[in-house]
Amino acid sequence: PPLDAFDLIIFGGTGDLAQRKLLPALFHRYADGQITDAARIYGLARDSLDDGGYRERVRAALQKTMHDARAAEALDGFLALLRYRTIDLTSDAGWPELAGELGACDRVQVFYLAVGPDLFGHVGDRLQRHGLARPCTRVVVEKPIGRDAVSAAAINDALGRVFAESQIFRIDHYLGKETVQNLTALRFANALFEPLWNAGHIDHVQITVAETVGLERRASYYDRAGALRDMVQNHILQLLCLVAMEPPASLDADAIRDEKLKVLRALKPIDAHSAAQLTVRGQYRAGAVEGQAVPGYLDELGRTDSRTETFVALKAEIANWRWAGVPFYLRTGKRLAQRVSEIVISFRPVPHSIFGEQPLSPNKLVLRLQPDEGVTLWITNKVPGPGGLRLRNVPLDMSFAETFGGARHPDAYERLLMDVVRGNAMLFMRRDEVEAAWAWIDPIRAAWEASDDAPKPYTAGSWGPSAAVALIEREGRHWHEDAG
Ligand code: BG6
Repeated sequence: PPLDAFDLIIFGGTGDLAQRKLLPALFHRYADGQITDAARIYGLARDSLDDGGYRERVRAALQKTMHDARAAEALDGFLALLRYRTIDLTSDAGWPELAGELGACDRVQVFYLAVGPDLFGHVGDRLQRHGLARPCTRVVVEKPIGRDAVSAAAINDALGRVFAESQIFRIDHYLGKETVQNLTALRFANALFEPLWNAGHIDHVQITVAETVGLERRASYYDRAGALRDMVQNHILQLLCLVAMEPPASLDADAIRDEKLKVLRALKPIDAHSAAQLTVRGQYRAGAVEGQAVPGYLDELGRTDSRTETFVALKAEIANWRWAGVPFYLRTGKRLAQRVSEIVISFRPVPHSIFGEQPLSPNKLVLRLQPDEGVTLWITNKVPGPGGLRLRNVPLDMSFAETFGGARHPDAYERLLMDVVRGNAMLFMRRDEVEAAWAWIDPIRAAWEASDDAPKPYTAGSWGPSAAVALIEREGRHWHEDAG
């Protein structure tokens, strides 16, 4: 059934995020009947455009994501929900008109800040000044929330002066991915895993988010951010939290966020001294990705002097009873061999083998986030046949597409946007989580900045610098794909 009519107002309505993610997500929810014709969606930006011009732009953007005829039929209905207003975020021009048009607080009004974080405070102030910070108001902010703990706190303070924490939705789109939500289902809807989910039975955990893309159109943002801020501070630490957290008492948003926060606070600090052993950063050189020659990072950037990392591998540890001594190996990078994101839970070997010389492979649980979403449990079996007792490690494999049908996979933003309208904050980050994540990241960044070493070069299309392989192999372990 459709949700009650709501207003969604996108600041940055002509920008990349709106065109590539937000509007397609809203369109698909509309085509599925979840958004009524009484909803209003506003694109706001500085460009002078009228409703018709905006609708044509959005039509062109949506045509790229059209999946089936039914969706195509819904297009005109969806475009009719759209309006465009010219607005300047740093002056009052356009605001009184917007406030007049939005009218009474009789439906949920979501303001999506798809603009740089330096503008979050301005938008909050204007919303307040023009009477738009009301009980029906919700604001959505995108990462990056700051570039360190201090700037994140300043952004959170600015928003907090205008809105209650329950009105602020900080998006981490990884939390909207199907397999990420499935991690919670797998852990807490099965009796099988939780008794083993601790240092007594788990040898180590790996989290890989490998991308094949390079800078795309975001050079100026990315070069100031780097992989640690862009991916580790948010997406990867959120995944780590969901793997490592204690069972929450319920699915209540704060129950889950309390548990994630405890994990973040229990991360063992990496300081200037340990950073050299526990972290590896890299930057790609020219190479070939999936058979296509690609330039190196500096060429793509058009500079010669950037030390921004496009790859990070690190070993994290969680200092608590459940995880003491269990390494969490994390890695992410651009221009790697393959686009693959996965979490690997590697169990301990059996305590005693009765199979003589035959090597035994420990069990592994692999959660594939993308591209082929699914879960694989590696177990050891007898190879059938009359010969001796020969063993082989084989996968028990569940692919989402096969098991649940080959239907379109909704994008994470579809789920998350509808959750904002419903007021469900379960998949959003709370202020204290964001700040705790930065508090762990900042010393790593500081150690890198203080060191004379540059990021290690790696060839585009590889799995990153060889030091990342050494990071795990010197402890007698292997990255999952490399091991096959
Ligand atoms: C974004 C990062 O948050 O996530 C990008 O800023 C990255 O650099 C992207 O490419 C990856 O998202 P996904 O959903 O394609 O894995």
